[in-house]
Amino acid sequence: MSLMIDCLPGAKWLGIFSDRIASTAMRVFLWTSLCLISWSARAAADGSPGYFRDVRPVLQRQCQGCHQPNSLSSGLDLTTFEGFAKGGKRGPAFRAGSPAESLVVKYMRGEMQPLMPLGGTAVPKDQIEAISAWIAAGAKNDTPKEATDTISAANPPSYSQPPVISALAFSPDGQTLAVSGYREVLLHKADGSGLISRLVGLSERLNSVTYSSDGKLLVTAGGTPARFGEIQIWDTATGKLKRSVTLTGDTVFGGSVSPDGKMIAAGATDNSVRLIETSTGKELQKIGNHENWVLSTVFGVDGKRVVSVSKDRAAKLSDTASGGFLENVNLLRGELQAIARHPSKDIVVIGGEERIPYMYVMDRPKVMKIADDTTLVRKFPRQDGVIAALAWSGDGKKIAVAGLSPQVNIYDADTGKPVASCTGHKAGIYAVAFNPAGDRVATGGFDGHVRIYNSASGELLKDFVPVPLLVSRND
Ligand code: HEC
Repeated sequence: MSLMIDCLPGAKWLGIFSDRIASTAMRVFLWTSLCLISWSARAAADGSPGYFRDVRPVLQRQCQGCHQPNSLSSGLDLTTFEGFAKGGKRGPAFRAGSPAESLVVKYMRGEMQPLMPLGGTAVPKDQIEAISAWIAAGAKNDTPKEATDTISAANPPSYSQPPVISALAFSPDGQTLAVSGYREVLLHKADGSGLISRLVGLSERLNSVTYSSDGKLLVTAGGTPARFGEIQIWDTATGKLKRSVTLTGDTVFGGSVSPDGKMIAAGATDNSVRLIETSTGKELQKIGNHENWVLSTVFGVDGKRVVSVSKDRAAKLSDTASGGFLENVNLLRGELQAIARHPSKDIVVIGGEERIPYMYVMDRPKVMKIADDTTLVRKFPRQDGVIAALAWSGDGKKIAVAGLSPQVNIYDADTGKPVASCTGHKAGIYAVAFNPAGDRVATGGFDGHVRIYNSASGELLKDFVPVPLLVSRND
């Protein structure tokens, strides 16, 4: 249920979005993101720290999870310069010209408690020094006008063309279909008959969208390329963001929720799997068993183990309590992007570069030899494109395979025989999900349309654009 598009540093993705997004402010905002690196290189020539180049990225990466309009700890919003200057309950967060008297510096240095970021890794000394130097030099806002963030829940994104869909999920009660957009999750009626609500956050990209098994939480994994990774935890009853956990300096991928809802796992471009405690947002484990980006994760049935797949070609089984490596689930073949687990058994299906879905038992008995492949349950037919997403139906009977070819194939999980093919997409498909009853499959990808099919026949039942589109003046 997740996506990987080559994202270093997101240029391709931003390019796609900037073509498709309507408002000029957003277009330029994206353009600015894209050009930030060259812009920074030029700005660096002058040497003195600036807000846009040196301060804002630190706040984005380490602070805004708890200090944003959706989650205003101590009344402080660190997503805009104005919020930063205004400060929180204790007054302005900085005093221009006087870093020693600035709350933000005092909290980052631990001169005021609790240390910020609360419960996280301290901000590196050189970055605190850069922020101090910026305050000492007068704390000027040098944000390019076009890069000012204008998107919020009250002012959701507007689109001139459908954005690429990277993630989809049905709610466990079968009523809602959650679809990724730009900076938001769009909640639709499950049959595609209407938009219910929009959950607007900070991450530009949502690489995965997952419900907890009781349906109370909606969890996204994503971020803004080359800036920050974020896990968002939404309360489905209220539509409010319960928590945002910012992690790493790049997007995170393939989020999953443990069966009891207590833990969230996601993969990162620093080759780690992060385990987060759902109720507090605390990082429980940083599991470093992979040698390349980790693109998807899934918990075992009892939540004590997690399987992660990576560009390093391995599906690795790790212990959630210790973070320790248990074993490789698979024989190494191509790079892996997607994984799905049987609804009630510790059996997974994995896929990626090699285009062949493999079904494995999660455990490899210790007596097995290296290169022994006897835990392989089944191999499915080779697909026409790299596999980007997999789904297993709730009754365990069907598997859906999506990827860079414009067709989703459905197989009988027990025999490997083809059941149906779902056609109509114009390009790659990055997200696929079964409804809880298993009789529908929803797909989304590059062309920005959600399509809902009968999963037994492949008949297309509904085709819609999940975002509200601006009507073009020429129409
Ligand atoms: C995990 C959540 C979390 C993160 C991440 C976090 N904060 Fe906070 N922050 C809080 C909470 C909670 C308080 C209130 C603490 C208190 O009053 O005891 C707070 C208070 C503050 C205050 C005082 C605001 C006021 O006027 O009362 C400042 C300044 C601050 N944080 C700066 C930062 C900075 C800078 C970062 C990033 C380096 C950061 N915070 C990251 C949760 C967080």
